[in-house]
Amino acid sequence: MAMSETLIDADIRKARTLPSRFYTEPIEFERLKTVFNGWQFAAHTSELETHTMLPLPHIQDITGESVLLLRDQETRSLSNVCTHRGMRLALEPCAKKTLQCRYHGRTFNLDGTFRHMPEFEQAIEFPSDEDNLHQFPLKQWLGMYFTSQEEVPDLPWEMLEERLGFVSPTSFTHDAHRDRDHTIDANWLLYVDNYLEGFHIPYVHPELNQALDYSGYSTETFDGGVLQIGKAMEGDVKFDLPPGHPDEGQDIAAYYLWLFPNMMFNFYPWGLSVNVVIPVSHKQCRVLYRGYVSDAELAGQGAGSVLDTVEEQDQWVIEEVQKGMASNAYDRGRYSPTREQGVHHFHRNLSQLFVEE
Ligand code: FES
Ligand SMILES: [Fe+2]
Repeated sequence: MAMSETLIDADIRKARTLPSRFYTEPIEFERLKTVFNGWQFAAHTSELETHTMLPLPHIQDITGESVLLLRDQETRSLSNVCTHRGMRLALEPCAKKTLQCRYHGRTFNLDGTFRHMPEFEQAIEFPSDEDNLHQFPLKQWLGMYFTSQEEVPDLPWEMLEERLGFVSPTSFTHDAHRDRDHTIDANWLLYVDNYLEGFHIPYVHPELNQALDYSGYSTETFDGGVLQIGKAMEGDVKFDLPPGHPDEGQDIAAYYLWLFPNMMFNFYPWGLSVNVVIPVSHKQCRVLYRGYVSDAELAGQGAGSVLDTVEEQDQWVIEEVQKGMASNAYDRGRYSPTREQGVHHFHRNLSQLFVEE
């Protein structure tokens, strides 16, 4: 039986969770891969200030497509594959003015157009448009670039900007000390499921539970994502919300934004941490972390200060769930109507993409 819209009931009070085969079977893993063709986090704008060329190896790991950002007057997302015989072009970030292929020396301008190729004087109808690098869609939002494999519907960028724009991540800088790349023995869906609920915080994250007011934790779902809001404990670090902000008057420790299907943006008073989940196989994924900071001093306090510990605890629990999913005795569970709206929304999103004809 394939996935279909009716697989996950729209009413969370009746719905059953995603069947375990989606977490354990290679064929389901392959089938789900098309969900990654939409918007993907590419880089923070600060990463292009010192570079003109920024290859995006994580995009290739996710989608199979080798992509790079090139900064000319404007920044573009372009194919990182040489139009001659397919060599990958930029292998490292750099500040060069011309992109030269290391195989036979073809060069490209910073706008991705063909510039020069040795030994092609006698080639007929050369160069043509086909010798320029293919351009992919690129979007800039709150200081972050997103790229996609094809023209896809926009995410609700404006709505999110209203809520999160005040954090002004545009002015943040990349803090490479915060970068992580973890391999986890669990299906990528489990990483996302786990991110989408705070239900497990009191059980799995005792330290984080001290920093967050669990009773005030809230979850909002919207087309293309989920926003979870963690409330600060009395006297702990919280956001300075500008007057008129939709959450004015509340003590907010963190905004946890997930964008379908695999991107997480954690906004803290000190900055932003980004998690990108990379599907590896039906039983393995990788998670990349990037940190962007505004205030390094605040980073040691509040909900954002125990990140590595929290991460280890999350990885532990989802690796255990992966083992549980192999059970013949378990197939599906039920959702908490008050604490698992995010997980339900994600599973609904997935099932709606595979509506049966
Ligand atoms: S593959 Fe790039 S010049 Fe030949
Ligand atoms: Fe967690």
